[in-house]
Parts: sequence; structure tokens; C-alpha cells
Amino acid sequence: MTSGGDAPGMNAAVRAVVRTALYNDVEVFGVRRGYQGMIEGDIFEMDTTSVSNIIQRGGTILKTARSKDFTTPEGRKKAYQQLKKHNIDGLVLIGGDGTFKGANVFFSEFSLPAVGIPGTIDNDIAGTDYTLGFDTAVNTAVEAIDKIRDTAEAHDRIFVVEVMGRDAGYIALNSGIACGAEDILVPEQDTDFTAILKRIGFDKRRKKLVNIIVVAEGDDFGGAELVRKKIIEKYPKMDVRATILGHIQRGGSPSYFDRVQASRMGYAAVNALLAGTTQIMIGLENQNIIYTPFTEAIKQHAPLDTDMLEMAKVLSA
Ligand code: F6P
Repeated sequence: MTSGGDAPGMNAAVRAVVRTALYNDVEVFGVRRGYQGMIEGDIFEMDTTSVSNIIQRGGTILKTARSKDFTTPEGRKKAYQQLKKHNIDGLVLIGGDGTFKGANVFFSEFSLPAVGIPGTIDNDIAGTDYTLGFDTAVNTAVEAIDKIRDTAEAHDRIFVVEVMGRDAGYIALNSGIACGAEDILVPEQDTDFTAILKRIGFDKRRKKLVNIIVVAEGDDFGGAELVRKKIIEKYPKMDVRATILGHIQRGGSPSYFDRVQASRMGYAAVNALLAGTTQIMIGLENQNIIYTPFTEAIKQHAPLDTDMLEMAKVLSA
């Protein structure tokens, strides 16, 4: 099952799960549309050809959803009954912390073993260095911001570019560094807007006319449009534009990195389930596969490396 926001690499993980299970003579079923599909019995048997030609595709062939019904005991009971109808006795769940929170409650009620695979472009899950889709999403953002810089340079404009990250600044931080952004605004750190305005004024004096400001959608100060307005309020003659990259960051063919990590995680998830190691999320630490209990993975968001924010300031000065 895939659940929560889709992420490039989810299909590669589904493929790895299905093929590893079949290799071990285990029957596999796909659940469509996440926990909602589970409740509604949208469950079908998969064979090796069900996952042919999908490793390179973005989105998820299993579709995904955020389910309100699964947050209720009645919804979860229905989901359990649907799974039992198909004699399902183990789950592999690909998604974010919401997915694993659901799995944790589900296990406490029905003791159905589950293993998780972290799949979200936000890279914000504790207990893993990496979540599937992040590399592809950052590369998409970088490609877009590079293009924006070309036109910004041609017109001597300031551009405020909003990237995804409702609660997390990983995409903003990494795309910002990779594109040489002058400022990077993230939810994890209070935004000192006075300092940003001061720097823009200073840059104008020394004729640094192009400024790229990358802002995560969940920044405490506000999104790209608000940042643009506030700059113009202070410097009415400046040519400032805002661009919201939006869902373009979620789609597209996964990078080689996402495909490889998805394959490793899918393979590891089935092997863990078969070995009886459950209620864990497969994670990556220093390139090695690790197991993180769901309880740890859902406790907090992965912290952002604030040293990198400092570095970004130095490098773009
Ligand atoms: O997948 C995570 C994420 O991309 C967040 O960064 C973003 O805020 C959210 O999903 C958007 O979700 P939706 O498409 O459901 O609005």
C-alpha cells in the first residue's frame, strides 16, 4: 500500500516488494488508495507482471489518499475485516509519518504485523537519513530555479521561489544551496526578515541586482507572495517576482538514487516481515539499511542541519 503524498520512487518500491515476496513464494495483494482503499476493500492480487515497466514511473500505480475514516476505530475495524477477507497477514506500507502513526494504532488494536518504507519528498521522517522521492524532488526544484535565475539575471530582478515543505525545510535548504540562493527560509528556523531587507538594500548598493530567495511553503514568515509584498513595501522601485513551484516537485521519473534506494528498501521490508521483525520502518543510515521502530519514527520530525543554513549564508554573501 502507498499512502499520504505520493513521491517519486514509490513505484520502484512497490515493484521490489512484489518481486521479493513472490521470489519467497508469498502471495501479494495491492491495496489501492491507501487506508481509504483498505477500508473500502479496494484490494487485488498482484503477480510479477503487475509491476512490469513501473520502476521509472513517478506517482504510484497503487494510487494514494489521506483517509479521515481510518482515524476512527470503526474505520480501522472495517479495514481489518477487509484484510482478513483476503487472508492478509502482513503489511508493507509506503508513506510518511501519518502512515506509520496509523500503522501503530492499527497494530495495537489488531496485532497485524507491518513494516514501513519512508516515502515522502519532504525527507522529514526521524530514524532515517533518507525518504524516497527527496532526491528527485530536489533535482526538479534545482532545474526550475536555475531556469528562473537565467531570466532573473536578464532583467536584474529579485525572485522569491516557493518550494514544498509544509513542516520541513529540507527541499528549500538543499535546492537553495545547490542554486546559490541568497536567502533560504525554512520552517525550522525563525525568519529574520529585517536582516533580509537589510541585505537586499546593501546588495543594491554594491550592484548585486539578482537575488534568489528560496522559501519553504511552511516558513513561519509566510510563503513567496508575502515575502515579495514585504520586499516591495520597503523597496517600492525594486522589480520583485514570486514563483510557486508546487506539485511539479512531486511528479516525474525518479532519479537513479531514488530507484536504487526504493529497491533496497522494498527488498529489506519483505525480508524483515518474513523474519518476524515488524512494527519497524526501514531506514537508511550512512548508506546502510537500518530498522527504526514506528514509535521512534513518529515521535518527531527529522531535525534540519542548521550548520548548512549558516554555510549557505557564507557562500552566497
Ligand atoms: O508530500 C509532502 C508534501 O509535498 C508537503 O511538502 C506539502 O505541503 C504537501 O505534501 C501537499 O500535500 P497535498 O498535495 O495533499 O496538498
